[in-house]
Amino acid sequence: MDFRLAIADRILENIPEAALPAAEIANMLEIPPDAKLGDYAFPCFKLSKALRKSPVAIADRLAAGVSAPFLARVESVKGYLNFFVDRATYAREVLSRALSEGDRYGSDGSGQGRCAVIDYSSINIAKRFHIGHLSTTMIGNSLYRLYKFFGWRAVGVNHLGDWGTQFGKMIAAYRRWGDRETVERGGVDEMVKLYVRFHREAEKDPALEDEGRAWFKRIEDGDPEALSIFNWFKDVTLKDAEKTYELLGVSFDSYAGESFYNDKMAPVVEELREKGLLKEDQGAKIVDLEPYGMPPALILRSDGATLYLTRDLAAAKYRRDTYDFDRSLYVVAYQQDLHFKQLFKVLELMGYEWAKACEHVSFGMVSFEGQTLSTREGRVVYLDELLRTAVEKARGIIEEKSPGLEDKGEIARQIGVGAVVFFALYNNRIKDIDFWWDRALNFDGETGPYVMYTHARACSVLRKAEDAQAEPDYGALSDPEAQEVVRLIEQFPQVLKSALDRSEPSMVTRFSADLAQAFNKFYYERRILDDDPGARAARLLLTRASRDVIKQALWLIGLSAPERM
Ligand code: ARG
Repeated sequence: MDFRLAIADRILENIPEAALPAAEIANMLEIPPDAKLGDYAFPCFKLSKALRKSPVAIADRLAAGVSAPFLARVESVKGYLNFFVDRATYAREVLSRALSEGDRYGSDGSGQGRCAVIDYSSINIAKRFHIGHLSTTMIGNSLYRLYKFFGWRAVGVNHLGDWGTQFGKMIAAYRRWGDRETVERGGVDEMVKLYVRFHREAEKDPALEDEGRAWFKRIEDGDPEALSIFNWFKDVTLKDAEKTYELLGVSFDSYAGESFYNDKMAPVVEELREKGLLKEDQGAKIVDLEPYGMPPALILRSDGATLYLTRDLAAAKYRRDTYDFDRSLYVVAYQQDLHFKQLFKVLELMGYEWAKACEHVSFGMVSFEGQTLSTREGRVVYLDELLRTAVEKARGIIEEKSPGLEDKGEIARQIGVGAVVFFALYNNRIKDIDFWWDRALNFDGETGPYVMYTHARACSVLRKAEDAQAEPDYGALSDPEAQEVVRLIEQFPQVLKSALDRSEPSMVTRFSADLAQAFNKFYYERRILDDDPGARAARLLLTRASRDVIKQALWLIGLSAPERM
């Protein structure tokens, strides 16, 4: 039974003159902030205009008329109609729905036939994957999973930063001082060393800069030698990154990065010209955005070189043409707010209706135990090192708490990575994150390991329960602890929907922590394996639904849920 619809029907029976579809009334229902105010509330002011009656009058009339076997009571309070569902019915309906929908529970399938392109992680070639890229990678991964879960066709794009004069310099440095084997062995680190050396030596010998430029020109002109070195740099970087992606359980459908658009920009520039948007500015070509309170969008430099923005214009069009998306998301740090505002504005000025479907999913900075990170000052935390340390720490905790556990290595990996990811996805994405070891790896409180541990606890209870089961007595779930768990399970679909609509995985993260906390409270206060077979059966169903929903929530933020810890 869908309580919202059932309540909407009862409301309409009492005020047929409202003449609205039940689904519309159902959508108006709110969840009161405090359970004391009921399970659902109907804000009667929404009908006052149509009915030409005060909210209080409408609420009073409805309170007198509405009744149903599933409703324990209905109260009119200050223009709101508060509905109290019968506790046992509430538990029965919520649990039956969650358990019968199984691993589809929480999704309304509303994305069927629609496509979302998600640009995330988007790392830079020849640079190490540092923790600044953790948020984009994990927010993007979570959105990717959420969209898929809601039935969308999701396309994950790693828009590689693989274009720029620095690659010419790197080739020059490699040709002078590098050798293949060292770079193969040392990976990105070795490339970074070459780059640093280039800059040091270029101070003494400015001719080097020309050499770098010449190599970049050769890449641009498609010279085979230049391209082969450049592509090899890319392979080495991606091989390094792949290890981290594997550890995180992240993947992509496309690695089309900046260089992919080399031959796709000329038509875009031409189109801008035709549409009268391109202006000359000291030899450069720009789109004037002054009327929109923004600095000009730089399209071509005076030497004819294209820019990051030019590539993004070509990429946006390419994505639209290739995937026919209904939404296109860019999960990129807030430092690029202006860039994306300009990008979307130019697309709009070009007359593309779908510019509205583009969204910049912006997020805050990461610092580490109170210190901001700065490559220049040598304060960097590399993601693979961070994850490896987390896994080692988790391993230490396992050795101490459950030395007999099977498959310790894999479980330590899941917990360690889970702790870091959970921490990164816990707060509203626009907030800056300050990462602390002791907070992330804690097995208590609002952490990944705590939620995972709660899941393992529910698994363990279910393992101990015998299969033969009595008819569940849902009345045994009337206590506040069980009811709180039921209430959260009931809200799960709504939470996921909001998380998707607001591109806010933290809503799922927090939900998982709330549900874990509620379940633990229930676990401590009530005997799940009760002597009364009916109560026991009902509590086991609650345990099973909690386990499933926690597991699903963790999966949606990119975490595994080990069955034993
Ligand atoms: N590579 C860029 C960076 O690390 C992010 C690219 C984001 N995606 C895009 N289409 N601009 O800052």
